[in-house]
Amino acid sequence: MTILVTGATGVVGRGVVGELLRAGRRVRALTRRPAAARLPGEVEVYEGDLEHPESLRAALAGVERLYLFPVARTAAEVVALAAESGVRRIVDLSGAGADDETFEDGYRVVERAVEASGLDWTHVRPGEFAANWLDWAPSIRAERTVRRPHGGAVTQPTHEADVAAVAAAALLGDGHEGRTYTFAGPEALTVVEQVEAIGRAIGERVRFEEQDPVAAREQWIRDGYPAEVVDWLFGMWAASARDPAPVDEEWACVVPRLTGRPARTFSEWAAENAAAFS
Ligand SMILES: NC(=O)c1ccc[n+]([C@@H]2O[C@H](COP(=O)([O-])OP(=O)(O)OC[C@H]3O[C@@H](n4cnc5c(N)ncnc54)[C@H](OP(=O)(O)O)[C@@H]3O)[C@@H](O)[C@H]2O)c1
Repeated sequence: MTILVTGATGVVGRGVVGELLRAGRRVRALTRRPAAARLPGEVEVYEGDLEHPESLRAALAGVERLYLFPVARTAAEVVALAAESGVRRIVDLSGAGADDETFEDGYRVVERAVEASGLDWTHVRPGEFAANWLDWAPSIRAERTVRRPHGGAVTQPTHEADVAAVAAAALLGDGHEGRTYTFAGPEALTVVEQVEAIGRAIGERVRFEEQDPVAAREQWIRDGYPAEVVDWLFGMWAASARDPAPVDEEWACVVPRLTGRPARTFSEWAAENAAAFS
């Protein structure tokens, strides 16, 4: 059985490739740039672009299961082509916020295409990735400081390796058909606590500097973030800082249930990624 991993050079996709290889499966990987892919030698690497579904024909030939990196604009075509090529099961990467359809290019577009395919499907809906905070690496390296508004906002950071492990479990195991797995890491942490954890991982104090939200908003928009995205994000952070949620136990128990081991903590993630912040 051949399994095609799209987004295979990405943070999650690489993890999915690794999980499948460890399980002894035949793995094919899709990338737009095979020469730069740096994937293990036993992986069959195919060139293709999810934005151009016809470019996936060769990669899909003979594939039975598919890990789908979400590209909303072409999802319906990609999924139809997968079905036509003989794919039987799709595990799609989505997000915990999928039901929030604030933005038209949201995850539900991909999920709906997958649901309409007639194939077995599983939606993998992780919460916020711990890897997002690699964005802090430049200011931590340069000044041991993180500047952000709403330092009291709480998230439940999700280790990308756990996202990959959940996707691999759904690709390989039985009983995941028609299931939507919404999940996150094992702890609810404020931004300040996450900054402190990175400090412990690098063995140095990292300062948190609370930014004025109005000034930060202007800065983010100057940096190229769409205003509506900034407003949505800052709105969520402000609400969370006012009323921090406790850990969502339902989300926290999915990784252990599907993978048979505890979900990785933010401190583990920070220790593994310490070099990026040092
Ligand atoms: N960040 C979060 O907090 C969060 C939370 C929930 C869900 N998510 C979802 O997770 C996704 C990110 O996953 P990730 O971290 O594994 O991704 P990533 O590290 O950004 O990598 C995505 C990979 O997908 C490939 N790719 C991108 N566009 C492609 C296209 N048009 N055709 C073929 N391949 C394409 C790229 O590979 P090549 O360059 O080799 O082609 C890239 O390496 C987000 O887009 C979001 O949908 C994120």
